[in-house]
Amino acid sequence: MSKEAILKIEDQELSFPIIEGTEQEKGIDLRTLRSKTGYITYDEGFGNTGSCQSEITFIDGEKGILRYRGYPIDELAEKSDFIECAYLIIYGELPDAEQRQAFSDRIGRNASIDERMHRIFEGYPRDANPMAILSAMMTSLGSYYPYLATNDRSTDLANFDEAAAFAISKVRTICAASYRVSKGLPIMYPKKDYDYCDNFLHMMFSNPYDEFPKGTLQGKALNLILLLHADHEQNCSTSTVRMVGSGGANLFASISAAIGALWGPLHGGANMAVIQMLEEIHASGDDGSKFIEQAKSGTSGKRLMGFGHRVYKNFDPRAKIIGQACDELLNELGIEDPCLDIARKLEEAARADDYFVSRNLYPNVDFYSGIIMRALSIPLNMFTVMFAIGRMPGWVANWKEVSSQAKGKISRPRQIYQGPTIRDYVPMDQR
Ligand code: ACO
Repeated sequence: MSKEAILKIEDQELSFPIIEGTEQEKGIDLRTLRSKTGYITYDEGFGNTGSCQSEITFIDGEKGILRYRGYPIDELAEKSDFIECAYLIIYGELPDAEQRQAFSDRIGRNASIDERMHRIFEGYPRDANPMAILSAMMTSLGSYYPYLATNDRSTDLANFDEAAAFAISKVRTICAASYRVSKGLPIMYPKKDYDYCDNFLHMMFSNPYDEFPKGTLQGKALNLILLLHADHEQNCSTSTVRMVGSGGANLFASISAAIGALWGPLHGGANMAVIQMLEEIHASGDDGSKFIEQAKSGTSGKRLMGFGHRVYKNFDPRAKIIGQACDELLNELGIEDPCLDIARKLEEAARADDYFVSRNLYPNVDFYSGIIMRALSIPLNMFTVMFAIGRMPGWVANWKEVSSQAKGKISRPRQIYQGPTIRDYVPMDQR
């Protein structure tokens, strides 16, 4: 097969090399297009644009495949845990026992945040959105630990292991602290003998005379959710990390920007939107059938939240795993959630409906994750910060990858300008 693509523009015929990935994904290398022709590519939403070459995560949306560093997500979900996957995603290989211990210890050691940061939480209104707090606190970490956030690439890379552990560890401390303060409760300090997920639940829900125990089903379920969210190649927030990191910004600033990108309902905010939708359907007495019709009409402004994906056009492998885990957890905890019944009915109806089938709209990871989080007593306005905790290893790994490129370029897309052409300035009294 020819390893080049021929492009004919006006009278010019040009050839461009084909780049092939290790999973036989093919791309046309157009890096010289503009200098050779003056043309640019136009690809709104970047659906056909490869912004980088990456070794971290592979997705085949047509086949429903997701792999972290080559390992299938279903195998990792069954055999691994969030912290091991974080190591794998960031460093490229599964850790041996010593590496795993050192990584866990480093995360454990860095769970607390500077005491002066505690006072910042108090300054927020009680109903402040936890995503706003998280984004601000994440970039603020760089001010409390400035040696990890110099914006000098070689220094920041030299201190990367510590900065990565800080980001992964402190994100859950910040999220739990924002919750406690919003409820008027004292901030809980992390416990040395609790693992990552148990510690988060402890910092959220323990009280001086009633400690959240370790080794619970809730901790196990949380571990699965975080693992399934740990990376997802060039999605909106991860591309943001790379975009910001490409300019040389430190890890915490790059992640803070990604938290903003994650916030929207078409991305990480979808897990909240799913529960809001299910609660609305329940409150209206609908079993889901009316809502499905509205979502199909295209005029109601409604979408079946938790359905559809830019990349997966067959099924989202994470949704399969999470749907099953959701049933198991609710059974084991003896919780009856009417939202789960409605979700099941919506899924069944949508999967038999030509509108959804013909557009390849299947449940995505968010469709059932919200129901699990409700069962864990995570409040609705914290669902997207839970996604952020889970996505941290992916953001960290992508920042490292982009920052480590010897000849990395700053990300700077072009545009096709459609505004007014040159015109004379009009003085105020003549407008
Ligand atoms: N409900 C109803 N119709 C839908 C839905 C949906 N959830 N998603 C897409 N469609 C329809 C569109 O109206 C469009 O129909 P048309 O061809 O008749 O115009 C067609 O399917 C294609 O939709 P696009 O918006 O062009 O698809 P795109 O790939 O750009 O969007 C997205 C993907 C944003 C995820 C979309 O499916 C959506 O809004 N889903 C609901 C929100 C959601 O669950 N987001 C979470 C994504 S996963 C994540 O970030 C973790």
